[in-house]
Amino acid sequence: MSQFSSPLFLPQEIIRTKRDGGRLDADEIAAFVAGITDGRVSEGQAAAFAMAVFFRGLDRGERVALLQAMTRSGSVLDWAPERLPGPVLDKHSTGGVGDKVSLILAPIMAACGGYVPMISGRGLGHTGGTLDKMDAIPGYVSQPDTPRLRRVVREVGCAIVGATGDIAPADRRLYAIRDVTATVESIDLITCSILSKKLAAGLQGLVLDVKFGSGAFMPQPDRARALAEALVEAANGAGLPTLALLTDMDQVLGHSAGNALEVRECLDILAGGPREARLWAVTREQTAELLLLGGLAADLDQARAKVDDALDSGRAAEQFARMVVALGGPADLLDRPGAHLAAAPVVRAVKAERPGMVTAQDVRALGLAVVALGGGRTRPTDPVDPAVGLSAVAAIGTAVGPDAAPLCLVHARDAAAADAAEAAVRRAVVVGPVIGSQAGVPQNPVAGRIAAR
Ligand code: URA
Repeated sequence: MSQFSSPLFLPQEIIRTKRDGGRLDADEIAAFVAGITDGRVSEGQAAAFAMAVFFRGLDRGERVALLQAMTRSGSVLDWAPERLPGPVLDKHSTGGVGDKVSLILAPIMAACGGYVPMISGRGLGHTGGTLDKMDAIPGYVSQPDTPRLRRVVREVGCAIVGATGDIAPADRRLYAIRDVTATVESIDLITCSILSKKLAAGLQGLVLDVKFGSGAFMPQPDRARALAEALVEAANGAGLPTLALLTDMDQVLGHSAGNALEVRECLDILAGGPREARLWAVTREQTAELLLLGGLAADLDQARAKVDDALDSGRAAEQFARMVVALGGPADLLDRPGAHLAAAPVVRAVKAERPGMVTAQDVRALGLAVVALGGGRTRPTDPVDPAVGLSAVAAIGTAVGPDAAPLCLVHARDAAAADAAEAAVRRAVVVGPVIGSQAGVPQNPVAGRIAAR
């Protein structure tokens, strides 16, 4: 603060400085964030600040200051008293359709000696949320109190849960205001929002999955890269070793989208069943990078071998089962998933009208079809239906047709909902002539790696 500044907190002066393209110092940013948290900053002032940042941006120092202030706006978990024998690590995805990587990565990490307090979110817009998937498991307590979270992480090695109210409360208020004031799409604000929650979880390493493509929150690859670079720079600047992978969301990840259906897909993979190639490529690479970041492997090749072994040996499945039991879910979920996961009353195969090959998917539209079936929300307080969604989604390059594989199976509450979803799927999936060289060949979805400079 300058020598002439008053000790009085004047939010409007901070907004004015940023509005006019000036630089805020760390004390001013900390005061503003404290005001967002305790209510001294009004909703209008927080919105004006967000808009000023949207247009003027933050420099590297301002970004780290905003991130640190938002992180400290609530409690910051300290894992030192637990004396864990391994590093505390996590991942974060910017969100997609069918993105169920967390459910496979967390137990693999635990099986390899990592500790993963995975604080996850609910579905947002057309994208699914890890927390909604875990809520599809009957009895699973997805929002335990902090002592229970600590106990499960200590005893099992991983806990996939939601944030308690005291994790980054400034972000919760600011995000809700951004959501209704057209200020979500600021790379500075997204960076601080995502990372404040991760830093508050007391992590020692973080891998980010920043998605681009038709189902991503940030579809343009260059914007996604800019976001990944900002996230990596700010996280490392705040002392959290972080790396980002850029992955494509131009098709549904895995073969299902919908909460119970995605849990089922993960349980099948953990139990040694077939793995959809793109889903496995993204999961394996993120998990290997996280093992390397946490010092649990000497190099990426060794890390990949550890990932494969944790899955193939059944140790990851065992970790998942232990986590589910520790958080109140059924002990025989892996043995009898059908006895516990909700199933929709209507299951309909959507067949392409002519033989051909899937050449493109409008993934956002497929995500919205799941939301419309009841698998996501249109208002924050809406309940979600765990049973509905899409399964057997034909990947790009799959031969489809009246006598071949369907475009997908629609799982719906009733025939009218299935009709609407079927129409949406037909609009969203492009079927073209079979091009020999493309048929059945999945492209590597991992398109880039952004490490700290
Ligand atoms: N997810 C978050 O947590 N925050 C954002 O700003 C955007 C996506």
